[in-house]
Amino acid sequence: MWRLLCILALVISSEARPKKYAGIPLQKPVSPRASTDNRLNKTLVKPSNYALDLKVTKDNLDKGEFSGAVTITLNVLKDTDSFVIHAKALNISTVTLTGNNYAGTVTAEDADANDFVTITGSKNITKGDNYILKIDYTGVLSDTDMDGFYRSSYKDADGNTKYLATTQFEQTGARRAFPCFDEPSFKATFDITITYPDTSTALSNTEPKKTRSDAENGLVTVAFKTTPKMSTYLIAFIVSEFECTDIKKADDGTPTSVCGRPGTKETLSNALKAGIEALNTMKTFTNIAYGALGNKKMTQAAIPDFATGAMENWGLATYRETDLIWDKDQSSNYYQEVVYTAVAHELAHQWFGDYVTIDSWSDLFLKEGFATYFEYHSAAQVHKDWQLEKQFVLEQVQTILVTDSRKDSEALSYNTSDLGEIESRYNDVSYSKGSAVLKMLQSFLGLKNFKKGLNKYLTDHAQNVATPDELWSSFEDFKPKDVPDKLTVVMDNWTKKAGYPLLSLTQNEANITVTQQRFLLSDDDSDYTKWYVPITYTTSADPSKFTETTTKQWLTPDTNVTIVLDKKDNWIILNNQQVGYYRVNYDKTLLAKIKDALNSDGQGKIDEISRSQLVDDQLNFARAGKAEYADVLKFLEFMKNDNSYYTWYSAFEGFSYLLKRTNDDKIRTPLKKYVKDLMESLLVSVPFTTENPKAQIYTLKQVLALTWACNLGEENCVNNATAAFTSYTTDDKIPSRNLKSIVYCTGLKNSKNSTNDYDFLYNKYLSTDLATEQVTILEALGCINNSTIRQEYLKVALTDKVRIHNVDFVFKSVYSNNEKEGVNDMLQFIQNNYQDFEKHFGTQSTLTSLISKVGDWITNQDQIDTLNEFLKTYGLDASIKEAVKTAVASATTNLKEISTLEGKLKDYFGPTSGASINTYHLVNLALIGVVYLFFNFF
Ligand SMILES: *[C@@H]1O[C@H](CO)[C@@H](O)[C@H](O)[C@H]1NC(C)=O
Ligand SMILES: *[C@@H]1O[C@H](CO)[C@@H](O)[C@H](O)[C@H]1NC(C)=O
Ligand SMILES: *[C@@H]1O[C@H](CO)[C@@H](O)[C@H](O)[C@H]1NC(C)=O
Ligand SMILES: *[C@@H]1O[C@H](CO)[C@@H](O)[C@H](O)[C@H]1NC(C)=O
Ligand SMILES: *[C@@H]1O[C@H](CO)[C@@H](O)[C@H](O)[C@H]1NC(C)=O
Ligand SMILES: *[C@@H]1O[C@H](CO)[C@@H](O)[C@H](O)[C@H]1NC(C)=O
Repeated sequence: MWRLLCILALVISSEARPKKYAGIPLQKPVSPRASTDNRLNKTLVKPSNYALDLKVTKDNLDKGEFSGAVTITLNVLKDTDSFVIHAKALNISTVTLTGNNYAGTVTAEDADANDFVTITGSKNITKGDNYILKIDYTGVLSDTDMDGFYRSSYKDADGNTKYLATTQFEQTGARRAFPCFDEPSFKATFDITITYPDTSTALSNTEPKKTRSDAENGLVTVAFKTTPKMSTYLIAFIVSEFECTDIKKADDGTPTSVCGRPGTKETLSNALKAGIEALNTMKTFTNIAYGALGNKKMTQAAIPDFATGAMENWGLATYRETDLIWDKDQSSNYYQEVVYTAVAHELAHQWFGDYVTIDSWSDLFLKEGFATYFEYHSAAQVHKDWQLEKQFVLEQVQTILVTDSRKDSEALSYNTSDLGEIESRYNDVSYSKGSAVLKMLQSFLGLKNFKKGLNKYLTDHAQNVATPDELWSSFEDFKPKDVPDKLTVVMDNWTKKAGYPLLSLTQNEANITVTQQRFLLSDDDSDYTKWYVPITYTTSADPSKFTETTTKQWLTPDTNVTIVLDKKDNWIILNNQQVGYYRVNYDKTLLAKIKDALNSDGQGKIDEISRSQLVDDQLNFARAGKAEYADVLKFLEFMKNDNSYYTWYSAFEGFSYLLKRTNDDKIRTPLKKYVKDLMESLLVSVPFTTENPKAQIYTLKQVLALTWACNLGEENCVNNATAAFTSYTTDDKIPSRNLKSIVYCTGLKNSKNSTNDYDFLYNKYLSTDLATEQVTILEALGCINNSTIRQEYLKVALTDKVRIHNVDFVFKSVYSNNEKEGVNDMLQFIQNNYQDFEKHFGTQSTLTSLISKVGDWITNQDQIDTLNEFLKTYGLDASIKEAVKTAVASATTNLKEISTLEGKLKDYFGPTSGASINTYHLVNLALIGVVYLFFNFF
């Protein structure tokens, strides 16, 4: 499953990481659980086949309901008179148990808080026999949950609302569609039959086998072919009026197509191509064709309402529209990459997840780590100029290095029994650290060995489940001699412990000693975890080595490493291409040599990924108190001559954090000026007026650089963007597809006629049905420079004008784009409208999660006071109170962090600081008025 998409920031903040899929799935309420041990008993009964018969009539669709009958063939492993299956929000009418002359009766209790339905027989069912359990039931197609079997909708060309019924089962949604053994290891085959209105079509995991029509009742019944042996969470079905692209075949003959709302066919061709490419690449990579996995077709579908990014149902992958529908004239390059990588992610899951499945949700990383790895490394095989292997380092590795340096970070494998805990596994650790650790494994094994091991893993566990240790063992026969121990040992602490090592280098004449210790942002030395660390490096003697990722030496839990430098060697830089999951701290002498090289011509031939790693590491060392900000900000001055997308991406991540955690304008103003000055040559390299959409990295860099430039009030950028916005409002000249996001936000931020400009863009939102355009506008509308209009905009989120899966874009666009004012607006909005949330969303969780997000953006005591005031509101729900209290606590921590950080930054920016700051100060005095105006608004 794919995490919620969060587009590149118009936002200067550390939360707005410009990675593709930041965030977690929509938060669902976690009901109190009867017991923390809610696993099914694996030794009692097991299903071998489900015959599932579903009925969704036109009337059902209108009312949001369905009916079903499931017939489960059971394998009895032990004599018993009762067993447990899962069901949730289903109304069970009849239950029968037959087989082997079973003459007893059965009863089913209502589902308990664990979603357990206990089936009790009047007589024992006996070991070794097959029984047939048949259950008739009805269920609801929910509009708000986007979980289970649910209802989505869209407006057709005539403006009529059309409903469709679709599924999202990972992790525990299947039990809302049919009673089942809803855990990944209870694999079975499925024979699915669906009855639906004859104006619709039905899709499921496999191809249709037989269709029968009942013209009199306007119904059609389709029986789908038997599925391979698979887990319940990967079942999918859709009843809709979707149209599909023509069928295209992958190299192995697998027919594939892509489906979506009527009218989207043209814009689905990008995804069709991406799908074929992904199936072909995965076949080459694993040496197992998709068709050989056991399913004979691949359909992908774009769902108008979708809780997460995408879902890898076997043979019927489903996506949010922004992740599948791409319009070549209107959607940006960024979104094209989103489609290709989303598709690569979900189709990689067909091998890693669907064919070989995790045994327990505790090891979610085993499937999500692979899918995230292939998200980049599969699409990279075809779109070489997108440099996805390098983007992987920025978007996955460097991002998770920050999260994983918190004291409360979790290990990749983490025992979960509680349903709430299962959901909490959908975090950056499972996805990003999972993929980063696999990348490291690939590097020290070598690509060829890695592929051999993967093939063995898939073959050994075909249509079955596997554990992390079984994965590591698959590579045992293929590992190079230098690997210091068994792979289960080498990978142990990477999997079972949180965090990662900081490698520290000290030079003594020609000898460099490398030692390790866990890196923590809190500058806390109490964690003694040690790892097996593969080391690669490059020295000034041969900068061509930066591309070599074969391990040079191993650091082990109980030995340090000594690297002996050639006398000529001037500098040494560890971790080529950042394939190792760790940070590197150089002693003063070594860092000074690197700094000199970076400031020489061509950055001393130091590779851009290494530069990016240095920038990222140094900024995080300052944050952790392992380096002084004054030194690090001086170190970064080499970037005046560095125009690499990679270096800048890392730098902007660091600057986002600084801007998010400062409040005092005496610090912020010179900080912003520092960033703007540093960007001078970067901006020359990507002028507003020169677009080159064929060049992917150029385009990504241009959007990133100009987003920052316009937000910092850089004159050329602001003038060009506002001019382009005016051309749109006056001459209806649509801004270029790649710079739209900048034009919209900057136009509104600098608007001279706020009401008209806001209305103009809002009406554009209402009039488009292209999801990428809708989201791009939603993310910009909060930039409007008028607090009253922003309140009005926030209210729109509580109406049917905004799909529930998009409301966070609305909120964030306000609280993250307007400095303190945005947060104030949000707090005011919550106070005035909190009562409307539950009514609209059917749950308090949208509100409570919003409160916690806003809490993270609080920068001053007044805002905390506002929250405390709100807490006194009479009759406030307990869950809201809890959320507010938590937000107050985290905001209070922020304030401390802000005061510490501002104290540290004073060394560089404060009034009593050294030489470099004085020049800034002079200019500031002149600029302060103008600058303040701009800064006030973002
Ligand atoms: C599963 O059921 C068997 C038989 O009733 C019982 O002996 C065993 O303890 C159960 N296992 C678990 C994990 O509950
Ligand atoms: C049913 O099976 C249980 C567990 O094996 C056993 O203890 C019990 O005696 C059996 N009851 C009958 C009536 O056979
Ligand atoms: C450098 O390392 C070599 C070999 O490990 C050792 O013989 C030598 O004494 C070391 N030199 C210094 C100055 O530590
Ligand atoms: C894991 O870390 C511990 C310290 O927390 C260390 O004692 C142990 O040797 C490490 N084990 C492996 C296999 O790396
Ligand atoms: C490795 O270096 C650290 C830090 O200098 C030192 O405390 C430790 O004893 C060394 N370990 C070995 C095995 O030499
Ligand atoms: C637009 O940007 C270009 C390139 O940065 C610059 O030369 C030009 O002056 C800008 N136009 C305006 C109206 O500021």
